[in-house]
Amino acid sequence: MDLKDKTMLVIGGAGFIGSHLVDQLLDEGVREVRVYDNLTRGSEENLASALKDPRVNIYDLGGELLHRDILDAAMKDVDGVFHLAALWLLHCYDFPRSAFEVNIGGTFNVLEAMLNNGVKKLVYSSSASVYGDAVSEPMKEDHPYNNTNFYGATKIAGEHMCRSLHHRYKDTDQAFDYNGLRYMNVYGPRQDYQGTYIAVIMKILDRLDQGLPPVVYGDGSQSYDFVYVGDCARANICAMKSDATDSFYNVGTGIKTSIKQLAELLLELTGSDLEIEYKPGGLTFVKNRVGCPEKAEQEIDFKAEKQLREGLSELIEWRKNHIEEVDRRRRKAR
Ligand SMILES: NC(=O)c1ccc[n+]([C@@H]2O[C@H](COP(=O)([O-])OP(=O)(O)OC[C@H]3O[C@@H](n4cnc5c(N)ncnc54)[C@H](O)[C@@H]3O)[C@@H](O)[C@H]2O)c1
Repeated sequence: MDLKDKTMLVIGGAGFIGSHLVDQLLDEGVREVRVYDNLTRGSEENLASALKDPRVNIYDLGGELLHRDILDAAMKDVDGVFHLAALWLLHCYDFPRSAFEVNIGGTFNVLEAMLNNGVKKLVYSSSASVYGDAVSEPMKEDHPYNNTNFYGATKIAGEHMCRSLHHRYKDTDQAFDYNGLRYMNVYGPRQDYQGTYIAVIMKILDRLDQGLPPVVYGDGSQSYDFVYVGDCARANICAMKSDATDSFYNVGTGIKTSIKQLAELLLELTGSDLEIEYKPGGLTFVKNRVGCPEKAEQEIDFKAEKQLREGLSELIEWRKNHIEEVDRRRRKAR
């Protein structure tokens, strides 16, 4: 889909990835970016710069996924939907019923409202959580659903609802296309303290700000594919523009970084000569994860560009310029 003069609905658009997506959509010549978000985790602060553009608005009648009639009204005259709203991993762990209602029921509501309004394209935010611990590396999109937590279960359900309803309606007037994105571990400006695998970055930077050594739980060998938030936003745009449909894509760099390497890099970037302090414990769901980025490059023309070093420097700079905001996020996570 050519995005020029189109109206895009960004569900979860005040959140971490969603707000960067809103920023980037403005460079695509869109007519309108409508944000639908209940602001439980996202914030207007994330959209401070985007909201200066008259094409951006936060839907004024509401933003709750479970309010079906309001969601339905928000879909009027929309050309494409980005669905990023979800409860995060540990929230799903503690509150599986809410996770079921928001992540599964809410995604069904999105699909139903799209069908009711004849919306033709969806980009669904899934997650690398669907894979669980790697049985092969790097993980390709046909890696088994090895997930064992409820958050991952909701994302698998979301993927299958998109797929099955796409097939159910494909030869009818209500036909729609979709792609799903399986982000690896997303970091960057506007991140908070709640991301299960990336909160460590904020916590290490807090310790370094206080002149304290970074704490790493376990031996630091847990390894992940850290991908910059701006790259994830761009992956959404690539998936929306592409003619590809009915497919899922890894959104990652294909590079594995251990928590120990991450902590060392943060020490270097902040010019600290402190030593890492290793402690036992820490709640970890997955210890090893790196995604193969090839399918996304071949089919939707997406390749992550930001190097970890550069992305972390931008995060450090953002923290310096948003001290009060970071403080609010720190207090919210407690
Ligand atoms: N950040 C990551 O590392 C990561 C990795 C894999 C997958 N994902 C997925 O990508 C998507 C975006 O992630 P994010 O990091 O930007 O998360 P986020 O929590 O910052 O953004 C989600 C937004 O959805 C909103 N929301 C939550 N429940 C809602 C509801 N009931 N109705 C309306 N809005 C609601 C929140 O207020 C928030 O602004 C999510 O679906 C997440 O599961 C993220």
